[in-house]
Amino acid sequence: MSKNSKFALKIKDYIHSAERRREYNEQHFSEAASRYDFATRAMSLGRDSAWKKQLIEALPQFTAPVCVDLACGTGDIAFLLAEKYPAGRIIGIDLTEPMLKLARLRSDSINIEFDRQDMGATDFPDEFADIVTGGYAVRNAAELRQAFLEIQRILKPGGFVALLDFSKPPNLWFQQLQYLVLKYWCGLWGFLLHGNSEVHSYISASLRAFPDSVQLREFIAESGFAVVHSRQFYFGTLELLVLQKQTT
Ligand SMILES: C[S@@+](CC[C@H](N)C(=O)[O-])C[C@H]1O[C@@H](n2cnc3c(N)ncnc32)[C@H](O)[C@@H]1O
Repeated sequence: MSKNSKFALKIKDYIHSAERRREYNEQHFSEAASRYDFATRAMSLGRDSAWKKQLIEALPQFTAPVCVDLACGTGDIAFLLAEKYPAGRIIGIDLTEPMLKLARLRSDSINIEFDRQDMGATDFPDEFADIVTGGYAVRNAAELRQAFLEIQRILKPGGFVALLDFSKPPNLWFQQLQYLVLKYWCGLWGFLLHGNSEVHSYISASLRAFPDSVQLREFIAESGFAVVHSRQFYFGTLELLVLQKQTT
C-alpha cells in the first residue's frame, strides 16, 4: 500500500513560525491529499463521517444561509452543508490546491464553491457568513488568534461556528499519553499509505502547540463567542464545539 514519499519536512522545524507552518501545511497536505479520505476514516476507526454528520445536525435551521467551511480539504463538511441548506451558498476554502482539486471533482452541487484561501486572511467582506465550520481546521491555522479574528470578522452578529477537532485534556499525564498514542497510531497510517510516518504523526505535534480544552474555552470567550453546544468523542480526545458570535 505504501509509496515513496517526496515529502521530507519535519514539523518540529516549522511549528514555531506562522510563515513556516503555512509552508509546512501546504506541502504536507499536498502529499497527503490523494489518500486523505481513506486515512481519515482509518485513523478514526470509521467514525469520522458520523462526527461530521453530528456537526451538521448541531447547527440551527436557516432558509438560505451563507456558509464558509474553513480548511475544507476534500469537501466532506461542505457537501453536508449543501444537503442541509439546499438554498444556501456554501464556500469551502483551503490552502492546498490538491485537496481543493479533489473537492471540486467530488462536487455535483450547484450551491458549492471551492476556493484557495488562507483561513487567517480570507477575501470575504465583514459580516458575510451566517455559519462558519471547520473539521480539524483551526488546529492547523498558522496562527490560532488570527484565525479567530478572521472568523469574528466574516461572521454576522449572532452567527454560528461549528468546529470538530482533537481535544487536549488539561491533565499533563493524559496529554503525554494522548501525544504518544497519536504519534504512533497516526504515524503508522502515514507509513502504510505514504511510506512516511511524518505525514500523519504531525497531528501529535500540532496538538502540543494547541490550547488544552480549558484554555480553548477561555480563548473562545475572549474572542467574543459563547459555546452553545459541545459533544465529546473517544473519551474526550475529540470534541465538537458549536459557538455563537456574541452581539455587543
Ligand atoms: C486535517 S485537514 C481537514 C480537512 C477537512 N476539513 C476534513 O474535515 O476532513 C486540514 C486542512 O487544513 C488545510 N489548511 C492548513 N492550513 C490552512 C490555512 N492556513 N488556511 C486554509 N486551509 C489550511 C490543509 O490544506 C488541509 O486540507
